[in-house]
Amino acid sequence: MTIAIIGAGRMGQGLARRLVEAGETVVLAARDKAKTTAVAADIPGGKVKAAPVSAVGEADVVILAVPHPQTANALGEAGPLTGKVLIDITNPVGPERSLAIGLTTSAAEEVQKLISQARVVKAFNTIFADVLDLHLTDADTPPQVLYAGDHEFANQRVAGLISAIGFEPMAAGPLKNARLLEPLGLLTIQMRYALGHGSRTVPRFVEY
Ligand SMILES: NC(=O)c1ccc[n+]([C@@H]2O[C@H](COP(=O)([O-])OP(=O)(O)OC[C@H]3O[C@@H](n4cnc5c(N)ncnc54)[C@H](OP(=O)(O)O)[C@@H]3O)[C@@H](O)[C@H]2O)c1
Repeated sequence: MTIAIIGAGRMGQGLARRLVEAGETVVLAARDKAKTTAVAADIPGGKVKAAPVSAVGEADVVILAVPHPQTANALGEAGPLTGKVLIDITNPVGPERSLAIGLTTSAAEEVQKLISQARVVKAFNTIFADVLDLHLTDADTPPQVLYAGDHEFANQRVAGLISAIGFEPMAAGPLKNARLLEPLGLLTIQMRYALGHGSRTVPRFVEY
């Protein structure tokens, strides 16, 4: 399975590194070819390749890891992604870390409207990039990654990838629940930047 990541920043690089470690084939795509090639080459193992955003449709799974305001530009370049699993990790952060979109829609639902032929799953927006750097042992409780989507096949794919990188997948219902996951992402950001918690703080559902 090939996974293409649009966006070669903190999250794109961290996901690429973990997915390659898990044995997946990963390509990184961003706007600047030379920069993306250099970033890909720096990822340990030397297996991550750089590709233009216009080529991500060749992958089985595409991860959208660009700043929220760049969503339409990036997806416009990527094309229709018909039948592909598209993982939207964006947090719609507005001024002063407010939620830029919500209540009656979500960033993920807007992504689904933009690329109606893809199967969109919201995931990874509630963990920080630093969490992707964790070196876990079997004794550690793995970070929980919440995901929400309408397509069972796509949800299973995403859950499988979350497990493959050593994290715990937690189903959070249909894509509409991105309206709840995205504010949770923003709360996590507040916990870190306004309330002094560390960059490895992760929300987790526990059943007692
Ligand atoms: N950082 C976190 O801890 C974290 C956690 C959860 C979710 N997120 C979400 O994940 C997304 C990425 O965050 P990040 O921290 O990785 O951001 P980042 O470090 O700023 O990286 C963003 C990447 O996207 C690329 N990009 C921007 N516009 C693009 C476009 N139109 N087409 C293709 N590539 C484009 C950038 O390339 P250039 O260098 O050319 O601009 C850069 O490689 C954001 O939506 C954020 O809300 C972040």
